[in-house]
Formats: sequence, C-alpha cells, structure tokens
Amino acid sequence: MSKSTALCGVVLAGGWGTRLMPLTTSTNKHLLPVYDEPMICKSIATLSRMGIKEIMIVLGGYSGNSFFALLGDGHRFGLEIRYAYQEQAGGIAEALRLTKGFVSDRNVAVILGDNVFETSMKVFSEEFQQDEENDCYLFLKPVNDPGEFGIAWIESGGRIVNMEEKPTNSDSNLAITGLYLYTPKVYDLIDEILETTGYSRRGELEITDINRLFMQKNLAKGCHFDSHWADCGTIDALLDTSMLMRKWDQGPWLKPKVQ
Ligand code: DAU
Repeated sequence: MSKSTALCGVVLAGGWGTRLMPLTTSTNKHLLPVYDEPMICKSIATLSRMGIKEIMIVLGGYSGNSFFALLGDGHRFGLEIRYAYQEQAGGIAEALRLTKGFVSDRNVAVILGDNVFETSMKVFSEEFQQDEENDCYLFLKPVNDPGEFGIAWIESGGRIVNMEEKPTNSDSNLAITGLYLYTPKVYDLIDEILETTGYSRRGELEITDINRLFMQKNLAKGCHFDSHWADCGTIDALLDTSMLMRKWDQGPWLKPKVQ
C-alpha cells in the first residue's frame, strides 16, 4: 500500500532578509521583484506546478497587508492560500512548526520563499507519494560556495551519509536546496530536536538538524535534478536570477485564472 495522501504546500516567508538590506529595511524580502513578479510568486508557482492547491504561507515582519493585496486567499490563481505568522526569525524549522495544524495528516511540500526552481518538480512529488521507504526527499545541487548553504555528503551509491549547515572548509559542494518533501512525521522530528539539540548557536531551529535526523533514521532520500535553481537571498543572486528570467522570457509564473 502506498503512503499517498493529498499533498499540501507550505511557503516560508519569515525572517528579516538581512543580507538584502537596505532593500528589506521597509519591506519583506519575498515581495522584492525577481524580474517580472514578486519573488514569492516563483516559489508558489513551484508548488502549483506540482498540482498543489492548498498552501499555507508563513509570514514575518510587517508586510502582511502587501501579501494579502498580492495573493489574497489565492482564488484568483486557482489556489486556497492561508497564512501563519512567525514573530521572530527563529529559523526555518520554527516557521515550519507553525503549520502543523494546517498540514495535519497530509504529506507536505515545503519551499523557502526565496528559492526559484526553473522547471516543474512534479515527477519527484509523484514518486514521493508512492515511496513507502522514505519520509523526506531533499533536492541536491552543486554550488561554488558551500559555506553559504546546508551541505550534504553522499556515498558512491548516492545515499546521504552526512549533512551540515554552512560548513567551513567543506569537501562536499552539494547544497541542500530549499525544497523539501515530508510526511507529517516532520513535526515529531521538530519536537525531538527541540527536546534534544534545541536552537543553534545563531538562535535558529535549523532545518538541517531535522533533515539529519531523517537521515539517521534511514528515512531521507537525496534527489538530483538537471534544471536551474537559485536562492535569491543575496543582492547578486537576486540580480542574476532576474537576468535569467528575462532571458527565459516565460512571462509571470503565477498567472491569474481566466474565468
Ligand atoms: O536556499 C537553500 C538554503 O536555505 C539551504 O541550503 C540551507 O540549509 C537553509 O538553511 C537556507 O539557508 P539560508 O541562509 O539561505 O536561509 P535564510 O535565513 O536566508 O532563510 C531562507 C528562507 O527561509 C527565507 O527566505 C524565509 C524562510 N525563513 C527563514 C528564517 C531564518 C523563515 O520563514 N523564518 C526564519 O526564521
């Protein structure tokens, strides 16, 4: 029997966006333009391309009204969008924890609101829905600057054997990108980390600690994909991704539904 239940989505758009200041002094990072639309539209589109209709967005900061004006309850885009609010930038896993009631007993695709995936990842979500062995899919991509990302180490068969958040002098360059597929077990593991490791030295509940726990329990799979991926969390990445979008010239990804 497959573990398949409906797949819902979560977009994490909290945090302070400090690496993008002063652009983020007066607005939420995820509302900044990536070429032709606000950044968050790109991450919502990645969930939508997987066929996901029910999405919870976790907001932080003071821009709630702007998100509501942009997205509302989602019906203009054929989506059902709800919101949660993270008061402090306590980390990605802390933001995810706020969505427990919304996700309930469903599987969930979680995307960081500053991550842009060029093409549909639906083939992976469909595989995940049928996969009886793994409760966590991670998406790996080589990067030039491993010290800026969560990094995975894999053995020759492709299995992840270690992972670390922003390692110094890393001998692996495989970044764990900001798209995660989980069963609801993720909320138990967040609680387990809260009771054991707790918050990191930088004051965040780290998603990499949760993913490592999945790995240690033999429940995590690393997936490789060919298309482009970007984390728009720095000025240069924001500019580079905008230039790429212009080159691809696909038009806005989140299109209003024609009635
Ligand atoms: O982009 C991939 C990387 O994203 C991963 O490789 C890392 O493992 C992961 O920690 C993350 O690293 P960043 O340094 O890029 O994370 P950042 O603090 O920029 O947060 C990424 C998004 O997560 C942000 O756009 C909104 C959301 N977030 C972040 C924090 C700290 C929240 O919703 N709440 C938070 O408290």
